Amino acid sequence: MKLGFIGTGALTSAIVTGLKSDPDNSMSVVLSPRNEDIAASLASRYRDVRVAPDNQAVLDACDTVMLAVRPQLAHDVLPELRFRRDHHVVSLIATLSRETIAALTAPAGQVTKALPMPMVAHRQGATIMCPPDPGMAALFGGLGKVIEVENSSEFDALSVATATFATHFTYLDTIHRWLEDHGVAKPQARDYVASLFKALAAAPETNPDADFMHLAEEYATRGGINEQVLRALTEHRVFDVFSGSLDDVHRRISAS
Ligand SMILES: NC(=O)c1ccc[n+]([C@@H]2O[C@H](COP(=O)([O-])OP(=O)(O)OC[C@H]3O[C@@H](n4cnc5c(N)ncnc54)[C@H](OP(=O)(O)O)[C@@H]3O)[C@@H](O)[C@H]2O)c1
Repeated sequence: MKLGFIGTGALTSAIVTGLKSDPDNSMSVVLSPRNEDIAASLASRYRDVRVAPDNQAVLDACDTVMLAVRPQLAHDVLPELRFRRDHHVVSLIATLSRETIAALTAPAGQVTKALPMPMVAHRQGATIMCPPDPGMAALFGGLGKVIEVENSSEFDALSVATATFATHFTYLDTIHRWLEDHGVAKPQARDYVASLFKALAAAPETNPDADFMHLAEEYATRGGINEQVLRALTEHRVFDVFSGSLDDVHRRISAS
């Protein structure tokens, strides 16, 4: 596979870093020249990575091209490029549908949507893909877990889960700040919260048959302090509001 990227920003940097952190990976990678600093830095770090003079030169040099520009730019940038029938286009552009990308990259013969997350730089997390494709599954499988789905509605629903990361850290920050307000030194409070939640994050993998509510119930001893906090948040409809916000994100993603 000769892999190219149109758009060399945060996500491209994460993917290339993840791929090339495998010492056996000798895949040829061609980057578009923007962002200049990120492209130059990646090319200087890895032997098989080079920067093309322009976007068209990326396409001309590769058979598989990942689209990693901001969505608003795609409509300006892609129609100016000459795609080939034998190009496999892999769109990482979260908010543009596969149909829209296919129209913008015609006559490219194959269009896949994929949603890796920045943690692929450390070969962690998961990438969702639609439709399934063995070659791309192998590539993203080297960067963490891959979830392949047949239809775009399932892909869109899964992508909603990625809208919750900031909320997750705000939840941890609430605990951290509360500990500080109650006299715990900042580094100790941080260490404690980080260690506890690292262990909790591993629970679904160590208990593969338990659903999430089952894991919650294991901690929510009747009359105990976990049950108290869970009940307070439930009574204040915090989880209903949270679920409603996922509906709102879903509507936004589905409409694009
Ligand atoms: N970051 C994430 O967590 C994430 C996760 C999933 C999907 N995505 C999707 O991935 C895409 C890229 O996201 P990102 O976070 O990597 O954005 P980003 O850091 O802003 O990278 C986009 C890059 O595109 C470059 N660019 C601007 N004009 C260009 C042109 N005419 N031709 C080629 N490249 C051009 C920009 O260069 P300059 O800096 O020089 O302007 C920038 O480096 C987005 O569509 C986003 O929806 C991102």
